[in-house]
Amino acid sequence: MSAIATNRKATFENLMQPWSVGIDVITGVMDKPDRTLVRRASDMKGYYRDHAALQKLIAAGDPVHYEVFEKELPEEYGHLLLCISKLYPGTVGDECFMTKGHYHTVAGTGEVYLCLRGEGYMIMKTEDGRTNEQKFAPSRMVYVPPFWAHRSVNTGDEPLISFCVYPADAGHNYGDIEKQGFPQKITRRDGRVEMR
Ligand code: F6R
Ligand code: ZN
Repeated sequence: MSAIATNRKATFENLMQPWSVGIDVITGVMDKPDRTLVRRASDMKGYYRDHAALQKLIAAGDPVHYEVFEKELPEEYGHLLLCISKLYPGTVGDECFMTKGHYHTVAGTGEVYLCLRGEGYMIMKTEDGRTNEQKFAPSRMVYVPPFWAHRSVNTGDEPLISFCVYPADAGHNYGDIEKQGFPQKITRRDGRVEMR
């Protein structure tokens, strides 16, 4: 049976009720999320280039770098996962706070981000060495096509809050990122943002 036919059968046997959820676009918090992913400085070992600066930050209180609020949904073909990502402002050395970044396990799946607050970039790369960057600003959407690893970077003074939606069976693949990172490095020193 094809995936679509299987999905249709499942739909009528076990129909999910439509639902809605509120979000606060200022605080970047979802009402009653089913899951909250919290990544602190200590979860980011190996991701920033200045290891000593990261250690210092961990020793000084291990601040939260980002939180992701999600609703529980079946991680299967047909559903769409949605989340609110709240990436705090700050730097490690001079490198702006960022998410780990990942490919999707089902590599041929894309993702849509809508920036609600803050400023920054979505930096992207492919396994064969292509790179791309898109600006995050309030009311700006970023499309991450299939096969692009993606990482959010906060270049501003306030939380970078975005809404994202992607196929529920996409999965996360941190692949070469923990070892190689992304070719793009975004720094901020004395308020001046640079991408190298
Ligand atoms: C899902 C997605 C986001 C991220 C979140 C955390 O495909 O892109 O929900 O999972 O921003 O980022 P990572 O997983 O890179 O720590
Ligand atoms: Zn993703």
